[in-house]
Amino acid sequence: MGKRAVPSVEKVHLQAVKQTPKFDPSPCGKKSYREIKRKSIIAGLRMMRAPAVVAVLVNMVFGLQYLDFNRENELQHVELFAGDCSVTRGEAMEGRRCIGLDIKIGGETMDLTTSTGFIAALYQTCRLTPGSGWLAAPVCSSFVFMSRGTTKRSATRPLGEESYESVRVGNILTARTLVILMVAQALRCFWVLEQPKGSVMELHPCFQEVLGRMTVWKHCLQMQQFGAPTAKPTWLYASDAAIDQLEDFRPRHLPPPPPVEMAVIYTDSSGKQRVKGGKHLKASQSYPLPFGKALARLRSRHHERLRSAARAALKHNMKNYRTVRRNTRADARWVKHADLATVFDFLA
Ligand SMILES: C[S@@+](CC[C@H](N)C(=O)[O-])C[C@H]1O[C@@H](n2cnc3c(N)ncnc32)[C@H](O)[C@@H]1O
Repeated sequence: MGKRAVPSVEKVHLQAVKQTPKFDPSPCGKKSYREIKRKSIIAGLRMMRAPAVVAVLVNMVFGLQYLDFNRENELQHVELFAGDCSVTRGEAMEGRRCIGLDIKIGGETMDLTTSTGFIAALYQTCRLTPGSGWLAAPVCSSFVFMSRGTTKRSATRPLGEESYESVRVGNILTARTLVILMVAQALRCFWVLEQPKGSVMELHPCFQEVLGRMTVWKHCLQMQQFGAPTAKPTWLYASDAAIDQLEDFRPRHLPPPPPVEMAVIYTDSSGKQRVKGGKHLKASQSYPLPFGKALARLRSRHHERLRSAARAALKHNMKNYRTVRRNTRADARWVKHADLATVFDFLA
């Protein structure tokens, strides 16, 4: 009997082979819409030198085959922390397909602190047509002047006293919002991030990092010009300089504002004067509908310019397509600030 031949290949157990997610190429061999969309976002992230973790998250979302990506039902506007959805309603009035997400609309499924809510917001943003609109009004209560006695936030300590749940959650929500904002920027959306004037959110390290990666315009307006009962000075951080034309669309005639109680000054047990929120403070966070309409009309004014600029930028990015570079330190920072480990566990 001759010698037994030594097998030249080893048996491979299929289960043990790590497979990278496949992105359903179309039967004719051409790249599918899903794959083109994914690549255009990754290329945009690469151009702004976004942290690699953002690209990994985007890849994972596109790898979830039960999530539908279809050219026919792309969105034209996404509103996060939408509350009463004034901006979404304004966009719908302009005839655009849009969605508003808020914990008070969808509970846990739209709660940005949960993995489900975060992935839902990321997914809806990935569905945007290049050059669309995107707005976020992240919870500001722990960033405003009135709460600074408790939160201990300051220029030298922007993350504040993280042993307080509200401060910690405020920090995570900020970082998560900025992760999604980078995706909106990769799609060259006209994005807006709103905060009350004086908020120290822009001092959050992730916010500072984002400011270093792209041009951001900051516009201050008085919400009263759009029908709010008080002046309510507001900062709008935006991707486009046209944000300063918003007042062109303010209503010409407004009814006189009703009397409201926004703050109460009282003396505490030690005789110190203190300030606390009044009974109308919470309700005042909702945008008046004319504000939503004005923003939507502003976008309509610039629609053609924004769409063609976005198309040109995406074409350029795709031509120079390379995957996002890793930077272990930056990635670790974002994973920590946005509490992304739980999201990766959820997606794994
Ligand atoms: C500053 S208000 C924005 C209000 C909104 N612009 C409007 O016109 O009604 C913040 C919003 O964030 C929502 N919110 C609070 N925590 C949230 C969370 N964890 N995930 C998603 N939304 C949240 C609140 O329900 C509230 O509507």
